[in-house]
Amino acid sequence: MASKLQFLLLLSFSYAILQLSMAGDPDILSDFIVPPNVGGPLDGNFFTFTGMRSLVGAPFPTTFKVLKASMAEFPALNGQSVSYAVLQFPSGSVNPPHTHPRASELLFVLMGSLDVGFVDTTNKLFTQKLQQGDIFVFPKGLVHFQFNSDAKSPALALSAFGSASAGTVSVPNTVFNSTIDDQVLALSFKTDVATIQKIKSGFSG
Ligand SMILES: *[C@@H]1O[C@H](CO)[C@@H](O)[C@H](O)[C@H]1NC(C)=O
Repeated sequence: MASKLQFLLLLSFSYAILQLSMAGDPDILSDFIVPPNVGGPLDGNFFTFTGMRSLVGAPFPTTFKVLKASMAEFPALNGQSVSYAVLQFPSGSVNPPHTHPRASELLFVLMGSLDVGFVDTTNKLFTQKLQQGDIFVFPKGLVHFQFNSDAKSPALALSAFGSASAGTVSVPNTVFNSTIDDQVLALSFKTDVATIQKIKSGFSG
């Protein structure tokens, strides 16, 4: 009896390790996936995303801006385990603490500089001051941020993700803009309801 139980435990343990070692999206059983609404003969256009052309020659935004090329914007990425985002940081702007539940992120600073950081599961903070040309990896699922502390220069970065649909969970928005009960938040943050409501009021506008 004991050996059968041990065998089952071993089996489920091996399966868990196998799951952990799958870094990307699940494998697909075809070369690529074409959504049913794509009609006509397939050609290179299906595998082309032109949404970033809007960046060319455009004025730099005045607030932090993300332009994504993920499965939602670019359906050919379905099943391919990759996606991009272009991040534009005017002086002094921040990409607030957030996580990508389904992917690690490889950030490439194309212009300017960025102060970045992530917190691991032991609550240790890792930071770096990145300059133009530097690449930084944010491990999968961990809370991270980017900040352009330069008072004069904007910063531009390209992020690659190991998933066609990395997902973004913003910490401030998830906690203070999702209608979680004030009392739950007050107890959780060891403060009072009035303080929670004051923070929440900043999200309503
Ligand atoms: C708060 O949530 C609403 C509704 O989802 C959204 O429209 C708004 O942009 C959010 N506010 C902030 C500051 O993220």
